[in-house]
Amino acid sequence: MQLARPLSGAFLLLAVWWSLTGCDMAARVQPQAEPARPPVQAIASAHPLATAAGLEILAAGGNAFDAAIAVSAALAVVEPYSSGLGGGGFWLLHRVGDEKQLMVDGRERAPLAAHRDLYLDESGEVIPGLSMNGAMAAGIPGEPAALAHMAEHYGVLALRRSLAPAIRLAKEGFPVDAHYRKMAQFRLAVLQEFESSEAIFLDFGDVPEEGALIKQPQLARTLMLLGQYGRDGFYAGETADRLIAGVRAAGGIWTQEDLQDYRIVERPALTFSYRDMRIVSAPPPSSGGVALATMLHILEGFDLEQAGEAERVHLVVEAMRRAYRDRAEYLGDPDFVQIPVERLLDPVYAAGLRASIRRDRATPSRLLANPGIDAVAGNHTTHFSILDRDGNRVAATLSINYPFGSGFVAPGTGVLLNDEMDDFSARPGTPNAYGLVGAEANAIAPGKRPLSSMTPTFIESEEGIGVLGTPGGSRIITMVLLGILDAAQGEGPASWVSLPRFHHQYLPDLIEFEPGALSDQAIDDLRARGHEFKALESQYGNMQALYWDYRRNRVDVASDPRGIGSAAAR
Ligand code: DON
Repeated sequence: MQLARPLSGAFLLLAVWWSLTGCDMAARVQPQAEPARPPVQAIASAHPLATAAGLEILAAGGNAFDAAIAVSAALAVVEPYSSGLGGGGFWLLHRVGDEKQLMVDGRERAPLAAHRDLYLDESGEVIPGLSMNGAMAAGIPGEPAALAHMAEHYGVLALRRSLAPAIRLAKEGFPVDAHYRKMAQFRLAVLQEFESSEAIFLDFGDVPEEGALIKQPQLARTLMLLGQYGRDGFYAGETADRLIAGVRAAGGIWTQEDLQDYRIVERPALTFSYRDMRIVSAPPPSSGGVALATMLHILEGFDLEQAGEAERVHLVVEAMRRAYRDRAEYLGDPDFVQIPVERLLDPVYAAGLRASIRRDRATPSRLLANPGIDAVAGNHTTHFSILDRDGNRVAATLSINYPFGSGFVAPGTGVLLNDEMDDFSARPGTPNAYGLVGAEANAIAPGKRPLSSMTPTFIESEEGIGVLGTPGGSRIITMVLLGILDAAQGEGPASWVSLPRFHHQYLPDLIEFEPGALSDQAIDDLRARGHEFKALESQYGNMQALYWDYRRNRVDVASDPRGIGSAAAR
């Protein structure tokens, strides 16, 4: 910790107490002397065809950033329920050579005609479905701009080359699998509502059979124009005209100016240390990095290895509760609201939160200062992790939000639009699709980015480099937390992606857990401490991760067994 600034009374006491607890949080970790190059390159993504697209581009001489473009674009084609050109995402990059680390923020923005009460009726009630389904739900897409930006500034191949595998997949089609069928069934009604969507994703109005080919010639053309003209191939010209006409005809509020004005933002990665690791993660408008920092700083003061199961879950849950409370109160688009990031990242702040944890009792969420809000998710949205042979790496989490986004394809473009507008808080205290509530910081405003939970992350230490992330709405951050805690115990990616998961997000005040994640004995013990539970019927998340172990100079890569993804190293 830097003690450069004058410390006053209580703050000093806290700092002294904190230093006595041995939580020296100074940035003491410098990833040192890694081997010059990893022995193999590696990709883990949520779909085998996307992993193959990335490998193809690496084999063609592309670097990790070109491969990230190829994987993103392929996912846009073969995982239409998760991400796409009509959505956005965060690409966390590390470039070897100048060691540049940054996040390409390609998050959607609210249309310029949006306003804080966009989804409320005359009596101030939230209009059900308006921020979820159809053209009104869509923010201005960021993914096309992000791909063009990465090709221009970080890749070594032309954009059109990196997009080639996706264009091929869109033209030739990909086979429907069980997961596609499940997602399409879930969103059947909204896909049936729009002819442009039904024609692509359904078979005569119904969920296609397994093995049926989904061909997307219009999307192939949109990708081709993007490849040929860069960002103008999407945000101007033919594609832009069709997007605007389609959205407006379907009752939406986009204008040409929205598309012309869209900009990605390069943001410094958020970094902090945990034990002997340096964590590199997503800054606002993601809530991921800040919440991870709070949770890990709190937990650094406890000896989790010595704790029994119930004790460990109790402490981790209490850390989650406090970080998600802060999320609800403080976090939003940093270009619009003042976020006290420095305070939230300060280990002394976390020490204060830690001091409020009782070991024998759950802290009811209602007893924590209530910002007038709350937050909750699955395996739509997508994540991939890439390491190339030079050691360049990418962690990217991309989304169109709900499965199949808004369900609306702008006619003639093949572009399925997102429903990321639902990530704003439509009204303080009213939960969104993930049960998340927000306050002022995440209210709708023209051009503003909705708060996200997407948490693409690097773990760096003297021993190696980890790259990880996952979809899962509000549970993303706690999944990445459990992965990091597992890494701290010396486990590798195969363990991070398959670990049983539990989650707490402040409100609702209960521990959610996957089938079998907690023993009956631990549940009894935690109940006695005052915790309440929601036993989930199914598993959640779809983590894609890799680890380059410097000592053994070996790369492990893993894809979550809950999904259909694939991990490859070669
Ligand atoms: O940005 C976010 O936080 C959400 N739109 C992510 C949604 C998500 O992960 C859905 N997957 N289950």
